[in-house]
Amino acid sequence: MGSQLFRTKNIDQLISDSEDPEKRLKRTLGWISLTALGIGAIIGTGIFVLTGTAAAGEEVLVPSLLKAPLLDVILHGAHATGATGRPGAGPAIALSFFLVAVVCGFAGLCYAELASMIPIAGSAYTYTYATLGELVAWIIGWDLILEYAVSNMAVAVGFSAYIDSLLSSFGIHLPDALSQPAYSPATGWLPHFNLVGFLIVMFLTVILVRGIRESAGANSILVGIKLIVIFIFIIFASKYIHPTNWHPFMPNGWQGVLTGGAIVFFTYIGFDSVSTAAEECKNPKRDLPLGIMASLFVCATLYVSVAVVLTGIQPFSIFKGDAAPVATALHNIGLDNLQRLVTVGALMGMISSLLVYQLGQARVWFAMSRDGLLPKSFSRVHSKYRTPHVATWVAGIVVGIPSGIFDIGTLADLSNIGTLFAFLLVAIAVLILRKTQPDRPRSFRVPFVPALPILAILSCLVLMASLTVENWIRFFVWLAIGLVVYFVYSRKRSTLNA
Ligand code: ALA
Repeated sequence: MGSQLFRTKNIDQLISDSEDPEKRLKRTLGWISLTALGIGAIIGTGIFVLTGTAAAGEEVLVPSLLKAPLLDVILHGAHATGATGRPGAGPAIALSFFLVAVVCGFAGLCYAELASMIPIAGSAYTYTYATLGELVAWIIGWDLILEYAVSNMAVAVGFSAYIDSLLSSFGIHLPDALSQPAYSPATGWLPHFNLVGFLIVMFLTVILVRGIRESAGANSILVGIKLIVIFIFIIFASKYIHPTNWHPFMPNGWQGVLTGGAIVFFTYIGFDSVSTAAEECKNPKRDLPLGIMASLFVCATLYVSVAVVLTGIQPFSIFKGDAAPVATALHNIGLDNLQRLVTVGALMGMISSLLVYQLGQARVWFAMSRDGLLPKSFSRVHSKYRTPHVATWVAGIVVGIPSGIFDIGTLADLSNIGTLFAFLLVAIAVLILRKTQPDRPRSFRVPFVPALPILAILSCLVLMASLTVENWIRFFVWLAIGLVVYFVYSRKRSTLNA
C-alpha cells in the first residue's frame, strides 16, 4: 500500500511524450509575453472587491473564537480580540498588498523550478504526480479544485455586486432575495439567493461547452481594459484624496495588516499559471522567473496604488461589508459617470477571469479523470464540439450553486487557504527533490536553497494562520473529504494500477 501511495508517473516518459513532434508545443514565448499572460491571470475581481472589506474589517453577529484569526487565538487564547470580528487593516492595507507580493515572489520562484524541471504543460498536480507520488498529487489536485472553484465563486459574487451597483446608478434596485447571498458572517442565514452570480457562471459554462478558443487576441483586449480602468481610477480619483483619511494608518496593528494580507492574497492568485507555460518558453531558465517576477511587480504596483487612493478618498470604515468599494467610493465623491465606466470595465475583466478559471478547472478535473482518479465520464469529449463537456458542466454546477449561497469574504478566505497550502507543498517539493533527484536537469534553480523555500513555507504559514479558525476547520473538512474519496474510490482506479 505504501508503494501505491507514493508511486509516481515517470518523468522521462512525460518529458519524452511532450517532445514528441506531433504533440510538442511551439516555443514562442519570451518574458514579455509571459508577463502579459501573468497580468491577465492575476487581475480579476479581487482588487475591485476585497480591498474595502480587508481595510474595514468585519463585525460578527455572535462573538466566537471560531471567527478569530488562528494566529490571534494561538497568541491570546480565549482573549483573542478577533472573536468579535475580523480586524481591518485600515489604510495599511497598502502595506498588506506589498508584503503579500513578496510572499508570492518566494512561492513563484519555487513554482518556476518545478516547472522548469518538468517543462510540460500542466500544473502543480502534474509536477507532484511525477515527483512526490500519487497521494500528494491527489491532495494538490483536490486543493487546486479549491483554488480554482472557490476563487471563481468569489469572482461570480463580485460580478453580481458590481452589476447591482451599475443598476443602482440608474435607479434600478434588485430585490435582496435575488441579489444577496443566503449566508454571510454578518447576517447569518437568510432566505436569499444570489441569482446574478449563479446565472453568469451558467452562461459561461454554456459558452465553454460549445468551445471557446483561448483567443490570445480577445484576452489581451480584456486585459488592456482592466488595466485602463485601474489607471483611470488611480488618476482621476487621486485628486479627491484627503490625507486625514489615512489616519489612523494601522488601526489594528500588525494583526490587521496580516489578516488584511491573508484576504487580499486572493488578488494575486493566478501568477502560478505563468509556470504552466514552461513548455512554450523560448528560454525557460531566464524567462520563467523573469515573467513571474515582472507580473507580480506590475500587479503589486497597481494594487498598492489603488489601495492608497481608495483609503485616501473615503474613510476606510465605510467599506464594511461592501463588495463594490471602488464603485461606492466614486459614487460618494460624486463621480457617477466615472463610476459607471469603471464598473463596466471591471465587469469585463471579471468575465475574462471567470472564463479562464472555469476552463482551467475543467482541465484539472479532466486530467485527474484521465489518470483514473475521478470518474471516467469527466474526461469524455463532446462528439460535436470536442470540448470536455462533462467536466465543464460539473465545474459550472459546482461553482454556480455556492456562488448563489455564500458571501464573497467566506469564499475568498477558503480559496486563499487552499492556494497557500498548494504553495507550501510546492516549496516542500523543491526541498525534497533537491535531495532525492539532485542530478535531474533544472533549467531554473531557486537561489539560496534551503533558505528561500523555507522562507516561502514560513510566510505561507503566517498568512494561513492569519485566516479565521472557522476557515481552517472548513479547509480540514475539505481535505478529509478528499482523502475519503481517494481511499474509497481513486486509489483502486488509478491508471497506474495497470
Ligand atoms: N487574482 C484573481 C482576482 O483578483 C483571482 O480576481
